[in-house]
Amino acid sequence: MANKIEIVLSFQVFASPAELPADEQHLLSQAQKATQLAYAPYSGFSVGAALLTVDGNIYLGNNQENAAYPSGLCAERTALFSLRANYPDKQIVKMAITARRTNNPDFIAALPCGACRQVMAEYENNQEAPIAVLMQAENNQVYRCDTVSALLPLQFSKHHLGL
Ligand code: THU
Repeated sequence: MANKIEIVLSFQVFASPAELPADEQHLLSQAQKATQLAYAPYSGFSVGAALLTVDGNIYLGNNQENAAYPSGLCAERTALFSLRANYPDKQIVKMAITARRTNNPDFIAALPCGACRQVMAEYENNQEAPIAVLMQAENNQVYRCDTVSALLPLQFSKHHLGL
């Protein structure tokens, strides 16, 4: 008979950003700021991502859309690829993701898509240190997950390519 394995996702739920520690409040506010420069004329959904590196710097990204829809890119990957392109060795400690409708100042849920989780996971694996993920959730709540790998169970990685 087959074994049944259950994977439990555990994450913290904060009632509002004010409940986060100061550095995480700041990181989230920087992600919120990054939504202002999103280029999202087609979806009207502005996403911001902020990366905190081990040296205390913060790097921002936002979604960049295109008339040829699949050519656009999510905020998370824009931020990660930009950081990796400029500072390939910088360790990421935390990442914040937030979103709002482009014409509305209120922040809404911003859960990273599957493709972004895949990219986040590879960088986390490469640096051999966890990346904590802060996600804007409904009703001003914030979700916090200690690692990316928790957000992507049974992940495909370079090990499956024999690397
Ligand atoms: N988007 C992100 O930036 N991050 C995600 O994780 C989900 C989706 C963007 C892509 C597109 O510009 C818009 O949100 C609507 O899907």
